[in-house]
Amino acid sequence: MVPLTKTGPGRDFPPLRIEPKSRVFVLTGAGISAESGVATFRDANGLWEQHRVEDVATPEGFQRDPLLVWRFYSERRRQVARVQPNPAHLALAQLGEALGDRLFLCTQNVDPLHEQAGSRGVLHMHGELCSTRCASCDRAPFRDEAVYFDRVPRCACGGQLRPDVVWFGEVPLSMPRIFAALERCDLFVTVGSSGAVYPAAGFVSHLRNVPNARGQFARCVYLGLEKPDNAHSFDECRLGRAGELLPALFQVL
Ligand code: APR
Repeated sequence: MVPLTKTGPGRDFPPLRIEPKSRVFVLTGAGISAESGVATFRDANGLWEQHRVEDVATPEGFQRDPLLVWRFYSERRRQVARVQPNPAHLALAQLGEALGDRLFLCTQNVDPLHEQAGSRGVLHMHGELCSTRCASCDRAPFRDEAVYFDRVPRCACGGQLRPDVVWFGEVPLSMPRIFAALERCDLFVTVGSSGAVYPAAGFVSHLRNVPNARGQFARCVYLGLEKPDNAHSFDECRLGRAGELLPALFQVL
């Protein structure tokens, strides 16, 4: 049976105590980068109010009009080049220092702010904004901060290059690694994600059904401005800004 979700202002909850052998899985979404000035997707004035998902974030949209897609992602590249990590990214980098490989940090974000804050080994399940790959051949993705507003870049093979991000209708990256880490964790925390996009939105319900390696169910906590669509699967929803709540969220024992 799923317990009732405790919901309230984040500051009213005690810190999450992390026992010496506990493993923590943190999933971040666009909300963690909002205070850095990166636009979210589904909030008022979010990216999906101004752009049609079908046009800029699907393989079919890229086939129809690759230059429109490159203009959209070039704008995003310009935006992230101007921003800095905020206290929420920094707090997760510190947590990584304290826990080492007992922290698994998985992000849906394509921005590099976790890395800029000092986090290592971040799993970008929806790809990375400053990475480009070929839409035709299997040349490895490469780092690319360039912007393309007036031409579609080409690969040496002659094919079109595309942003190395995961679009709707494509499979997110490294799912076997993600599920292996989920099934080992004792504490699962989602930060700033509306819980509307699968498979990430389903991680928490997976943890409701599958006990971890110690035979226990992970504690599941949401932290963000408002209750996400999948709120009912969490034990707690701690409401508030990530930059204010995350620095005091964890107590490592
Ligand atoms: N602190 C915490 N949470 C915040 C903050 C903040 N300062 N600002 C906004 N939020 C919350 C919003 O309340 C919202 O629930 O962050 C969430 C952002 O939700 P979305 O915009 O839907 O972003 P996300 O869940 O990461 O989207 C998932 O959708 O289009 C795709 O590929 C894209 O990775 C993205 C995926």
